Amino acid sequence: MIIGIGAGDPDHVTVQAVRALNRVDVVFALDKGPAKADLARVRTEICERHITDRAYRVVEVDDPPRDRSADDYDASVRAWHDARAALYERLFLEELGEDGCGAFLVWGDPSLYDGTLRILERVLERGAVGFEHEVIPGITSVQALAARHRIPLNGIGETIQITPGRRLTPDPMAEAQNVVVMLDGRCAFEEVADGDLEIYWGAYVGTDDEILISGRLRERAAEIRRVREEARARHGWIMDTYLLRRPPGGG
Ligand SMILES: C[S@@+](CC[C@H](N)C(=O)[O-])C[C@H]1O[C@@H](n2cnc3c(N)ncnc32)[C@H](O)[C@@H]1O
Repeated sequence: MIIGIGAGDPDHVTVQAVRALNRVDVVFALDKGPAKADLARVRTEICERHITDRAYRVVEVDDPPRDRSADDYDASVRAWHDARAALYERLFLEELGEDGCGAFLVWGDPSLYDGTLRILERVLERGAVGFEHEVIPGITSVQALAARHRIPLNGIGETIQITPGRRLTPDPMAEAQNVVVMLDGRCAFEEVADGDLEIYWGAYVGTDDEILISGRLRERAAEIRRVREEARARHGWIMDTYLLRRPPGGG
């Protein structure tokens, strides 16, 4: 099972996810990077709080490293996914019996910037192990951000685009009326030309360390960079997401 666990608040876990968790024999924990220990803590809390009906094991594995220096981004991600597919295949063979039920607990929702489903497809294509799988949706960081700022993501009938920071253009409103930016390691909002846009920014949303800042981009950009850098230095990692939009009424 691939279970979305929400974006950091253990209360994000849905009733459907709790039911699914209580059918699991093995929880596969594949974390990586500097956030590893903190993400593991949230996952442990979720399992301990919600798995009440059965004995389960947690199998922790080091995720294969990704070559971030490669020129061809897509090729390097594909190679990384292949290495992970081989690892998952081995885990299934070694850790799950014929009728065993395994679960991947995915941050947020498995449909959004997460490779787990693609990797499982690749494991099936390789043909060495067969399995059925079910996807349990979770609260995404985008929903968590909007809820904490108490805003809708769009005005009536407007479009919304979700993009990684590396693809944000200086004129994001040319592409959509509301733009949500994730995976932005370089404060791409600083390159946006229109300082009148509104930004709704959040880091560690849903956790005890949550930080929220909103306002006109020209008035908030420097503050967000400063707060972001301080927080990243303090924690050793950061996860942040933001919405850019024109102020209601054109501003
Ligand atoms: C690999 S993606 C995973 C997204 C996840 N599947 C989801 O549904 O939100 C990681 C990115 O999600 C965003 N993110 C995840 N959790 C977050 C949180 N608690 N607060 C703010 N942003 C978060 C950040 O943009 C981060 O770079």
